Amino acid sequence: SSNVKVAVLGAAGGIGQPLALLLKGSPLISELSLYDIVGTEGVGADLSHIDSSPKVSSYTGAEELPEALYGSSLVVIPAGVPRKPGMTRDDLFNINAGIVRDLCVAIAKYCPDAWVAIISNPVNSTVPIAAEVFKKAGTYNPRKLLGVTKLDVLRANTFVAQAIGVPPERMSVPVIGGHAGVTILPLLSQATPRVDVSPETAKALTERIQDAGTEVVKAKAGKGSATLSMAYAAAKFAESCLRALAGEPIVECAYVESHLTDLPFFASRVRLGRNGVEEYLPLGRFNELEAANFEALKGELRGSIKKGVDFVNKT
Ligand code: APR
Repeated sequence: SSNVKVAVLGAAGGIGQPLALLLKGSPLISELSLYDIVGTEGVGADLSHIDSSPKVSSYTGAEELPEALYGSSLVVIPAGVPRKPGMTRDDLFNINAGIVRDLCVAIAKYCPDAWVAIISNPVNSTVPIAAEVFKKAGTYNPRKLLGVTKLDVLRANTFVAQAIGVPPERMSVPVIGGHAGVTILPLLSQATPRVDVSPETAKALTERIQDAGTEVVKAKAGKGSATLSMAYAAAKFAESCLRALAGEPIVECAYVESHLTDLPFFASRVRLGRNGVEEYLPLGRFNELEAANFEALKGELRGSIKKGVDFVNKT
């Protein structure tokens, strides 16, 4: 459609490249703006030969970031470093936190009205970082800042569908909370079709969904984390954002600022419309396992949110 520019920041990376490829196939995009600190030109030239309508433009390095962002309706951020052997979680946090902070400073300046979808981990902290940067810049709109948690939903759909023997495309499991380990809260009791499994099976499925990222890290044996499934999830999520922007409301799970719980940020089901999040759907009723897991995630999620907010305020 006319005049929809989508920027991908970190477009030459393991997630960025397949994400850019999938977005190049979207009829909802008029311009696909690829930005990275290195390698964007090659990715852009390669994708530009595909005979689909989005026009591909590539930008490399901080001096080209303003142009990469200018006029964007949606900015998707997979920029960062994945965890490498020998790197502590704190090392990873400090690098990615700084990257997301700096990119958001630029977004506030050059496309303050854009929707922003954050993939860079730890999402539980990077979304609060973005919020804090936008608040300081005076551009913050909580309805347009979304942490991408859709991969947790895809994983839940896949694993639960396998367990109950239905096609994965028909499965819909809400996943709320945060985007790491025990903060991930799958709601099997609210899935469709109905999931009738023993408490033991529900617990095992929940734990597999929570640990699914590690499953991939282990299988890749030191070479990184989920990239292809993450890119697929992010492309689907971006597509939903663009459909909503075009006037077709759609429900997605995303990590957003909300007042549904006593935590300031919480992934939940949200109805997206032209102006971003238009409705925060109620959490619904939890079963015993879900209620216990909800209580158990609060401490860690609260700590991750505070860590993000503090990072911006002390730098
Ligand atoms: N601006 C833009 N891009 C950057 C910046 C920056 N300041 N710093 C790094 N990048 C780019 C890198 O050049 C690289 O192309 O981000 C890309 C990241 O790609 P990979 O290193 O392959 O990492 P990937 O597996 O894609 O994961 C990226 O997403 O899921 C999260 O935990 C993951 O935080 C990590 C991020």
